[in-house]
Amino acid sequence: MLCGITTQQQFAPTMTDFRPTYDKSFDRIAADRLPALLRAMPKAELHMHIEGSLEPELIFALAQRNGVSIPYASVEELRKAYAFTNLQSFLDIYYAGASVLLKEQDFYDMAWAYLERAAADNVVHTEMFFDPQTHTARGVPMETVVNGLHRACTDARSKLGVSAALILCFLRHLSEEDAFETLEQALPYRDKFIGVGLDSSEVGHPPEKFARVFARCRELGFHLVAHAGEEGPPEYVWSALDVLKVERVDHGVQSTKDPELMKRLAKDRIPLTVCPLSNLKLCVFPDLSKHNLGALLDAGLVATVNSDDPAYFGGYMNQNFTETFAATGLTRNRPGSSRRTVSRAASSTRPPGAPTSSGSTPSSRASDRRRRAAPPAAASPPAHRRWLPATPSASPAAPAGAEWRRA
Ligand code: ADE
Ligand code: ZN
Repeated sequence: MLCGITTQQQFAPTMTDFRPTYDKSFDRIAADRLPALLRAMPKAELHMHIEGSLEPELIFALAQRNGVSIPYASVEELRKAYAFTNLQSFLDIYYAGASVLLKEQDFYDMAWAYLERAAADNVVHTEMFFDPQTHTARGVPMETVVNGLHRACTDARSKLGVSAALILCFLRHLSEEDAFETLEQALPYRDKFIGVGLDSSEVGHPPEKFARVFARCRELGFHLVAHAGEEGPPEYVWSALDVLKVERVDHGVQSTKDPELMKRLAKDRIPLTVCPLSNLKLCVFPDLSKHNLGALLDAGLVATVNSDDPAYFGGYMNQNFTETFAATGLTRNRPGSSRRTVSRAASSTRPPGAPTSSGSTPSSRASDRRRRAAPPAAASPPAHRRWLPATPSASPAAPAGAEWRRA
C-alpha cells in the first residue's frame, strides 16, 4: 500500500481497530507530486449518501424510463439549480431528485454508477448511506431499495475489486416512531446492511431525539454512526457520542468550537468523516482555504476525507482530496503540520479481506475499470405521472419542498 497509511473504524468486512502507521517516505514527497499521489493511492470512503451520487443525467434517464416528468427542462437547467446556501436548501432538491427511483433496477443502476466512479478514483472500500424513508414514504417497498443497492455492492466486489457495504440512515426531521417503523421494515434484510446512521436536517433535531431507536440498534448488533456538528453545535456531537454511543461522527467540523470535545475525540480516537467540498457547497466554510481539516488533524483527531453527495457538490473522492490539500496547504511544508497529520488525513487503506490488485498499479486498474452502464431507454412521460414541487409537507417536522409528488 502506498505510504503505508492505515486507518481505523471501517466496518466491513470486519471491525478492527487499525492503528495508523506512518512511512517516512511521505516526508520526501514534493508538494507538486502530491495530487498524483492522492489520486493513485488506495482509499476508503466512509461518508457518502448513495442518493447523493445521482447525477443529473441519470435523474433524467430514470425519469424517462419510469414515465415521470421533472420540473426542469434539461440536465443543464437542473444543474444550475445546485446553488445552495445551507444544508436545507440542498436537502430540498436532493429529496426531489430521489423521486425518480422506483424499481429495484433504478437503485442498482444508481449504486453501480457510483461504484464504477469510486473504483476509477481508487476507492477500494466504501460504506454507503441510504435513506429508506425517502423511498418507502413514496410507496417503494423496503425490499426494492435494499435488494437493488445490495446487488450492486455484491457485483462491485467481483467485477470492480471494491468492497462495498450499506449503512441505513434514519431521517432526523421525521419522528423516532417513524425510525422504529423503518427499522422493523428493514430487519428482514438485516444481513444486507452493516449499521445505522442519522442524517437530514440537523439543527432542531438533536441526536437524543433518537436515543431509544439507537439503543435498540445497538442491542441488535449494528454499527452506529450519526451526522453531528455539520451545521449543529458541539453539543450535538457530545450527545451523538454519549447518548447514541456512535462509533464515528459524520462531519463533526463544528467540534473545533469546544476544546473539551476536541480532547475527547482525540483521546477516544473517534473518527470524523469530513466532507470538504460538501462543507464548501453548503457554506459551512466561506472558502476551502478556511476549512478546518488541518486544525482537526493538528489537534490529533482521526479525520478522514469523503465526498458526501458527490453529484451535488462537484466532486468525488479524488477531487475532494486534491482540492482540499491544495487549498489548505496540507503538505509537510504547511506551518504546524507534520508527516503524521498529512498521513492521517489520507485515510488510505486496503481493508482486511479486500481483494488485491494482482500486481497492477492503482492507476492502470482504474483505467481498466472505466466501463459505464448503458443509459436507460427513453420514454415519454404520461401526463398522469407528472411530478410537482412539493407543497408544504403534512408533517410539520419535514423540510419544506422535500419531495416532488405525483400529480
Ligand atoms: N443527507 C444527504 N447529505 C446530507 C448531509 N450533508 N447532511 C445531512 N443529511 C444529508
Ligand atoms: Zn452526509
